[in-house]
Amino acid sequence: MGNGDVGLLSEWLRGAERAVFFGGAGVSTGSGIPDFRGKDGQYRQEWEYPLEEILGIDLFQADPSIYYRYHRTTSMTGAKPNMVHRKLAELEAAGNLSAVVTQNIDGLHQKAGSRTVWELHGSLARLYCEVCERQYDDAVLADPAVEVPRCECGGVIRPDIVFYGEGLDERVVEGAVRAIAEADVLVVGGTSLVVYPAAGLVNYYRGDKLVLINATETPYDWKADLVLRDDLVGVFSRI
Ligand code: OAD
Repeated sequence: MGNGDVGLLSEWLRGAERAVFFGGAGVSTGSGIPDFRGKDGQYRQEWEYPLEEILGIDLFQADPSIYYRYHRTTSMTGAKPNMVHRKLAELEAAGNLSAVVTQNIDGLHQKAGSRTVWELHGSLARLYCEVCERQYDDAVLADPAVEVPRCECGGVIRPDIVFYGEGLDERVVEGAVRAIAEADVLVVGGTSLVVYPAAGLVNYYRGDKLVLINATETPYDWKADLVLRDDLVGVFSRI
């Protein structure tokens, strides 16, 4: 395990042909979106129900207004990509990076210009009717007077995200696994790596350039070839 060397990370990325970035909520804290388990994370806030339940499919089906109230207080609309998102899009355009794998649902990688983005937990940019599966975009969430968006057919419109209690989209997992298994460099950043199955994807990497960038310790630090216990925005500004 190495320590603290942004120069080495830059060198590895410059020489990479199919690097993969695997990230979590810490990638978007620099855009003003709170993470879950970090120092100002959502788990430290008081919610109407335990956060795990609000993010669970059972409570959503029992009363979708609880999730939508939570959604309105977590400020994702209007958030802009930060240096991390932008640099990753540049690395892809330059032919060094093949994919971004993310647990985030904020769509900021695409907004920054990344093209191959495997969204393990879905996206808030897409919604669909629970009954007839008609697709909607996030314009249905724009009116604050509408507590729970409803389809023309009367069904509840749900976000196309993976709630706790639901499985991940197989096609997305396969894409992410393929990218990670074939990666020459794997950079993991801004994730506590405690939520499965997502965290387990790190194990598909077969190379010798596993980089972990996180403000706090993770259960995978011991596996990494380089650990940067640092701020992602700061690190990516120096790449
Ligand atoms: P977490 O909040 O668990 O982890 C984010 C990590 O990023 C923490 O360890 C922070 O210390 C670190 N961090 C925050 N800002 C940072 C910065 N600027 N620079 C460096 N590190 C920073 O978020 P995830 O691992 O993404 O799932 O959480 C995984 C899943 O748990 C989420 O996708 C969500 C949640 O419940 C579902 O809702 C299904």
